Amino acid sequence: MPRPVLLSTGIQMPLVAEGLEKTFEVHWLNKVPDPARLLAEIAPKVTAICTGAHTGVKTDAAMIGQMPQLKIIGNLGVGYDSIDIAAAAKRGIVITNTPDVLNEEVADTALALLLSTVRELPQAEAYMRAGRWAKEGDYPLTGSLRDRKVGMIGFGRIGKAIARRLEAFGVPIAYFGRTKQAGVASPFYSDLVAMARDVDTLIAILPGGAATKHIVNAEVLAALGPRGVVINMARGSILDEAALKAALRAKTIHAAGLDVYASEPDFDTDLLTIPNLVLLPHVGSASQLTRNRMGQLVVDNLAAYAAGKPPPTPVPETPFKSW
Ligand code: 8YV
Repeated sequence: MPRPVLLSTGIQMPLVAEGLEKTFEVHWLNKVPDPARLLAEIAPKVTAICTGAHTGVKTDAAMIGQMPQLKIIGNLGVGYDSIDIAAAAKRGIVITNTPDVLNEEVADTALALLLSTVRELPQAEAYMRAGRWAKEGDYPLTGSLRDRKVGMIGFGRIGKAIARRLEAFGVPIAYFGRTKQAGVASPFYSDLVAMARDVDTLIAILPGGAATKHIVNAEVLAALGPRGVVINMARGSILDEAALKAALRAKTIHAAGLDVYASEPDFDTDLLTIPNLVLLPHVGSASQLTRNRMGQLVVDNLAAYAAGKPPPTPVPETPFKSW
């Protein structure tokens, strides 16, 4: 029997590549000189797509429209804002993601980025490596986590894993979201500007996409004030980068730590000129252990389609009905 045809929108880790090739006839968009030509050739036969934010390719309405037999889009990652969800849902195409297996890793990275930003640890290390300690004296004193109050922008599974760590660190939290959550004692805000006014540190961990575009903007940064620290572990699209740069340069906020950018991996290099900013290259979930778990889950979802079985983790907008 011929194997079902799958399109990978970009490079995948070996565990995923091997897992897919066991079951599918795989076509790699990143391995051909003319991706548009490959797409036009194979689109009528494609029944499955494997993608992820790291591939830099948008699975948009036009691409979905080219594939009349498409049944499943397996996304490596919990965030699936690179896929046109409405276009998939309208056709009954199931999108799957890789939830839960990355919660603790991303939460660990969030705390590391928060501490690095507030205590200026990367800058202190750079000071030492540059031989400045003996010549110029101790690194200047820094801010502290001890006197801070964190406002969580987004309070889903990863947000709660971050909150558990903050509780252990003795840091009080509030949270912003669409609805107040049952059984959560921390103060709830439906107005982000109001929360920013009442806290001094924001940690963003919410889905990207049109609904949350530039939710952290100049007004929010102004409300946060001069002690303000912003940590973005979500998507670059949720933050107005121009407003952040202006606020950091004018010192109307204190510092920021970013793991995600408006453009990746070709981010705005002007960010590198701002000293009170800690930058990570989108490594929230990027340990071998966690990526293996995420990779296995994307393979399991796609293999379930090939076996005619329900996928383990469809996203809520595209529930599985039948193949
Ligand atoms: C990955 C992520 O970097 O899970 C997500 O939404 O952003 C990350 O864990 C990404 O999905 C890899 O494609």
